[in-house]
Amino acid sequence: MAKEIILSGMRPTGKLHLGHLSVLENWARLQEGNENYYMVADWHTLTTGFNDTSKIRENIRDMVLDYLAAGIDPEHSAIFVQSHVKEHAELNLLMSMITPLSWLERVPTFKDQIAQFGKEGKDISTHGFLGYPLLMACDIMVYRGTAVPVGEDQSAHLEFTRELARRFNHLYETDLFPEPKALFAKIKLLPGTDNRKMSKSYGNDIPLDADDQLIRQRVSTMVTDPARIRKDDPGHPDICTVHTYHTFYNKEEAPDIECRCKEGTIGCVACKKRLAKVLSEFMAPMRDRRNQLAEDPERLKEIIAAGDERARKTAGKTIELVRNAMNV
Ligand code: TRP
Ligand code: SF4
Repeated sequence: MAKEIILSGMRPTGKLHLGHLSVLENWARLQEGNENYYMVADWHTLTTGFNDTSKIRENIRDMVLDYLAAGIDPEHSAIFVQSHVKEHAELNLLMSMITPLSWLERVPTFKDQIAQFGKEGKDISTHGFLGYPLLMACDIMVYRGTAVPVGEDQSAHLEFTRELARRFNHLYETDLFPEPKALFAKIKLLPGTDNRKMSKSYGNDIPLDADDQLIRQRVSTMVTDPARIRKDDPGHPDICTVHTYHTFYNKEEAPDIECRCKEGTIGCVACKKRLAKVLSEFMAPMRDRRNQLAEDPERLKEIIAAGDERARKTAGKTIELVRNAMNV
């Protein structure tokens, strides 16, 4: 693979959990041989969450800690906060001049989300929300990004970015912007402890900084095979969340556990105990790394400042080129 310029980001909405980990691990893998920018997209939270901003700063800090804990290397990648790099805003403004309103209105999530929030009694039909895909496009374009690891739910936004890049290049007779491609990783999604999608709001999550006690507690409440009453009843691991977790985090033993569950020679209590132990061992180094940094706010500030600086340097060059191309 030729060297790519990779940009991705998440909205800081709270501590990340195991369900997010595979995404971050993919970001970490993509560091090899590429130029990487990993952003905390704080302005994006304002596009829907402008009425309660009380947690944003705390959430930004937590998100950076989670990125670092999951293996994003600040020596290699620029880990930065969107609102610290004002070039995103300037590009957003300049690009807004050439972005047809109809392009924004036809982004599939636009009307859906307004309706969805409307049901909850919240009006998000604001200029900022309409412009959200444009801001995201500018996040990528300001680094002249070539590849963006995202979920498939973001594919329309990437298509929008490519259209905008083409429009700019055509209008100003330049080849300044590459057309970035989406990198959809084939990531298996880890369910929450109740087998629904993992989410803090459902209380079924295992946060990346969970200690052994919380891990044990969460595992003990996991839903198993409901038909299994006594421990020698034959079980159905295929419908059991505990088993799903074994296949993620205890790959070697998972087949054996599956057999013994089916023949009724392992009980759910022992099975969960084993999982809690394996999970604890897996999560300990990550949690320790996170806690260590959390206790060193100066170091954390330095890491963010260095990431901001590197992001600004690249973004500043792009902005120079854009100003020249547009004669402003
Ligand atoms: N829109 C993304 C999300 O909600 C977050 C995001 C903002 C992003 N800017 C980005 C992702 C740029 C990739 C590239 O998940
Ligand atoms: Fe699930 Fe394990 Fe119980 Fe089988 S033994 S039902 S895999 S918890």
